[in-house]
Amino acid sequence: MRVGGLELAHPVLNASGTWDAEQSHRLFGEANPGLAGFVTKTVTPEPRAGNPAPRIATTASGLLNSIGLPNVGRTAFLTDLLPFLQQHVHGPVICSVGGFSLHDYVETIVALDGHPGCSAIELNVSCPNVETGCASIGADADETERLVLAARAATAKPLFAKLSASVSDIAEIAQAAEAGGADAVVCINTVKATVVDRATGASRFGGGGGGLSGPAIRPVALHAVLAVRAAVEIDIIGVGGVGSVDDALDLLAAGASAVAVGTALFRDPTLAQRIASGLSRAR
Ligand SMILES: Cc1cc2nc3c(=O)[nH]c(=O)nc-3n(C[C@H](O)[C@H](O)[C@H](O)COP(=O)(O)O)c2cc1C
Repeated sequence: MRVGGLELAHPVLNASGTWDAEQSHRLFGEANPGLAGFVTKTVTPEPRAGNPAPRIATTASGLLNSIGLPNVGRTAFLTDLLPFLQQHVHGPVICSVGGFSLHDYVETIVALDGHPGCSAIELNVSCPNVETGCASIGADADETERLVLAARAATAKPLFAKLSASVSDIAEIAQAAEAGGADAVVCINTVKATVVDRATGASRFGGGGGGLSGPAIRPVALHAVLAVRAAVEIDIIGVGGVGSVDDALDLLAAGASAVAVGTALFRDPTLAQRIASGLSRAR
C-alpha cells in the first residue's frame, strides 16, 4: 500500500518518540517488530537534554508528559543513529524533524534529503512541551504553509506534517500543510495538558507545559481525523490512543490511510504486531 508517497507493507507505524529502535534491537533482536516502518524521535539541530524533571505523570486514562524533545541532535543523528536504522529497520525510516525556526527545519531537511537512510520526513509542528518553534508554528496556518513550502523546496522525499489538536481549527492547519506541498498529515500529537502543584498553583512539570496521550485522547484523534478528512485530499496517518485492532479500524473508517501506535507500546511492545495481523484479517 502507498501512504503519503511511501510504500508500506501494512498500515501500522509507531508514533514518534514512543519506540526506541536501538533498545528494541538489543532486547528483542528486532528494531521495529510488527511495524511497517519506523518513525524516529524528533531530531533538533542541537542535542537536547529535554525538560527538567518531573516530566511524566499518570492520569485516569492516559499518560502526561513534558519530556521536551530530548534527542542526540542533528550531527549524531545523521552519523550514528540513521546508519543504524538504515541497517536494522524493516521498511522505511521516517525522520521526524523539529526546530525553533524555519532555518532549523530546512537545514536538517537538506541533510536528510542527501541521506539514503531517510525514506520520508515528518515535520513536527505540534510538540506542546517546548516554548518556541514546533507547536507555535503549527498553531498558525500561514506559518505552517511557509514552513511546508520551504521543506518541500528542500526535499523530493515524501513529506508529512504532524499536527496538533490543541489549535483553534486543525482542518485549516491541514489545508495549509497541503497547500505547502505535504504528502500526508499525521493527526494528532499529544493534547496540551498538565498537572498542578497545589502549593504554588503552577504546573508540577519541571518545564511547565505538558501533553496528554493514550486512551483519553482517542476521541479527540477521531474528531481530528474526521475534520481533516473533510478538508484535504492528501493521506492522513491517524494517531492518538490506539491500543487495539478496533481502535485502528475506527481511525481508518474516519478517513486515515494508516495508524501509528504510541503510548500503548510502553505497556505492550508486541501490540503493533497484533494490530497489524488483526487488521489484515478484518479487512
Ligand atoms: C513520551 C512521549 C514522547 C513523544 N515524543 C514525540 C516526539 O519526539 N515527536 C512527536 O512528533 N511526537 C512525540 N510524541 C507524541 C506521539 O508521537 C503521539 O502523537 C501521541 O503520544 C499520541 O499517540 P498515543 O496516544 O498513541 O500515544 C511523544 C509522546 C510521548 C508519550
